[in-house]
Amino acid sequence: MYILRSLLPNIIFILTDDQDAQMDSLSYMPYVQQHLVEQGTHYQRHYCTVALCCPSRVSLLTGKAAHNTNVTDVFPPYGGYPKFVKEGYNKEYLPIWLQDAGYNTYYTGKFLNYHHLLNYFAPFPAGWTSSDFLLDPFTYNYLENVWQRDRHLPVSASGQYSTDVLAEKAYAYVEEGAKAGRPFFLTVAPIAPHANLIVDLTSVDPTDPGSVNFESGNPVPAERHKDLFQNATIPRTLNFNPDKPSGVSWISRLPKQNDTVVAYNDEFYRDRLRSLQAVDEMVDGIFQRLEELGILENTYVVYSSDNGFHIGQHRLQPGKQCGFEEDINVPLIIRGPNVPKGQVTDIVTTHTDLAPTFFSMLGLEPRSDFDGVRIPLTQKDIEEAQCTRHEHINVENWGTSSVEGIYGKEYNGESNGQAENTYKAMRLVGREYNLYYSVYCNNQRELYDMNVDPYQMHNLIKGGNMTFPSFRNTTVINNHTVINIVSRLDALLMVLKTCKAKDCIQPWSVLHPGGDVNTLEEALNHRYDHFYYESFENNKVSFSECEYGQILSSEGPLDPWIYNDGIGWSP
Ligand SMILES: *[C@@H]1O[C@H](CO)[C@@H](O)[C@H](O)[C@H]1NC(C)=O
Ligand SMILES: *[C@@H]1O[C@H](CO)[C@@H](O)[C@H](O)[C@H]1NC(C)=O
Ligand SMILES: *[C@@H]1O[C@H](CO)[C@@H](O)[C@H](O)[C@H]1NC(C)=O
Ligand SMILES: *[C@@H]1O[C@H](CO)[C@@H](O)[C@H](O)[C@H]1NC(C)=O
Ligand SMILES: *[C@@H]1O[C@H](CO)[C@@H](O)[C@H](O)[C@H]1NC(C)=O
Ligand SMILES: *[C@@H]1O[C@H](CO)[C@@H](O)[C@H](O)[C@H]1NC(C)=O
Repeated sequence: MYILRSLLPNIIFILTDDQDAQMDSLSYMPYVQQHLVEQGTHYQRHYCTVALCCPSRVSLLTGKAAHNTNVTDVFPPYGGYPKFVKEGYNKEYLPIWLQDAGYNTYYTGKFLNYHHLLNYFAPFPAGWTSSDFLLDPFTYNYLENVWQRDRHLPVSASGQYSTDVLAEKAYAYVEEGAKAGRPFFLTVAPIAPHANLIVDLTSVDPTDPGSVNFESGNPVPAERHKDLFQNATIPRTLNFNPDKPSGVSWISRLPKQNDTVVAYNDEFYRDRLRSLQAVDEMVDGIFQRLEELGILENTYVVYSSDNGFHIGQHRLQPGKQCGFEEDINVPLIIRGPNVPKGQVTDIVTTHTDLAPTFFSMLGLEPRSDFDGVRIPLTQKDIEEAQCTRHEHINVENWGTSSVEGIYGKEYNGESNGQAENTYKAMRLVGREYNLYYSVYCNNQRELYDMNVDPYQMHNLIKGGNMTFPSFRNTTVINNHTVINIVSRLDALLMVLKTCKAKDCIQPWSVLHPGGDVNTLEEALNHRYDHFYYESFENNKVSFSECEYGQILSSEGPLDPWIYNDGIGWSP
């Protein structure tokens, strides 16, 4: 059987930068609502697995968790474009695989951090039929952007508004793609609503990329949008600038923000919404062109963001890289052939699932090294997934959490000279449970029951410390004790923090090779209590050091214990 090439669908991937799902940003985007939410499916429980631009983008482009790509930061030595290249991904990633499958591939906008005027030919990013990249150190400067089209020398678009420049390039690629006589994959990656960063050019040092100085400030809206939303404020959720500190580790030491800071942060929030307006208009422009070119019905449009964002929740200054819901829950809306229209779904999906999903849209078999699994796209598949899809989301971070506003830099890990924001974490969303569990590199732990505590204000592990026997046995969730729940989640996290491929998709089957446990509910069966208690006592997730990158010798035990029915367990 032959499939006519021209019948294969096109894919347009619109990837914003730092856009939240939790602070209402989507409801300020009427064209996204009109063309995507109303005409496609909104995956409300979509998560990034590492809440930082470059590591997250590398996961999107490879289908692998950050602990497997080992691109864990925005700068060398642990991250950035040079690390992506060093790990071999410029020879083996999404656009190359799609070209092999007969696709034309296009990319425009922000690619990876530290893809720079210093290294744009070292090497040139492989795999794109045509590309037009924003380059550092100007990527995040809304009015001082520099672009490299294919292998030409970079050109400055000084004074022009980044997203508007991008929109014209995106429209041209839609047209080029439609007329090339082959199906195409196009990524359009605006910088909004990221903070505006102005790099001090005298501080750029090729031998020490991380030492660069920059001034960070509010995202810059297009002139025509600068006066919108005068009355909008950050949603005053329970976790917004609370009277009592929350969280553990460095977060529990943050001071309450005063009125000056709150007012500044509200304006920061409004500027995020304003900067998204040009993105919204671009979305409309893309759909207009798809319609004019007659390819709308045969094109998937996928809208997402590399990671989420927090402002003021848990007293945090503007930034990301935390495991809180604001940082990891991101928009995902898909419109395209057979995707249900106007639907919202609660099935669990993650960024490592997107590369497998692009494969499935094109009818390609998934690669065996993908750490994620395709997202169901049809009504039938979505319904089926409600009963069968996995419950867990693996979340990880190494290093700090940078402050992107002007206040509070003295309180984050970075300024303390400590990589205090290194952690292993997990969301688990099942029919009976809705949990967040994390272990920081100082070994403090968090457990939130998100059904009753959606804003993550009541850590069920008091003081973050599991050594108090009195509360360990307290009944907390569905008649299970803290120790029952934590011992299971911790063992699952032991699997997730080093898993590869299939084991990342079905982690319970690593702990229970017999196949009789596939959910937390099943693992909570008391017949496994002894196994999980012993495993937690002797082989729990832990750290000996806070590191800026993935230094395994500081990351405690690496291999989970495995339940071995009838015999016990094997370390
Ligand atoms: C903003 O708030 C002010 C004062 O409450 C009110 O008078 C005004 O109508 C509001 N503007 C908008 C656009 O909602
Ligand atoms: C509010 O807090 C900021 C940041 O700590 C500080 O710089 C400022 O002086 C404070 N303002 C007032 C009025 O206390
Ligand atoms: C955790 O418990 C241990 C043992 O009781 C105690 O020494 C330590 O101070 C506690 N840590 C915190 C952060 O409460
Ligand atoms: C808590 O439960 C464990 C396991 O059932 C038991 O061994 C321990 O004695 C209990 N501790 C307290 C303080 O009740
Ligand atoms: C918890 O236990 C109580 C008392 O035994 C019982 O009534 C209730 O149904 C149980 N709840 C769950 C969720 O199992
Ligand atoms: C990750 O990369 C860093 C920097 O190159 C290296 O030191 C570390 O050993 C790597 N970790 C793993 C697990 O490969």
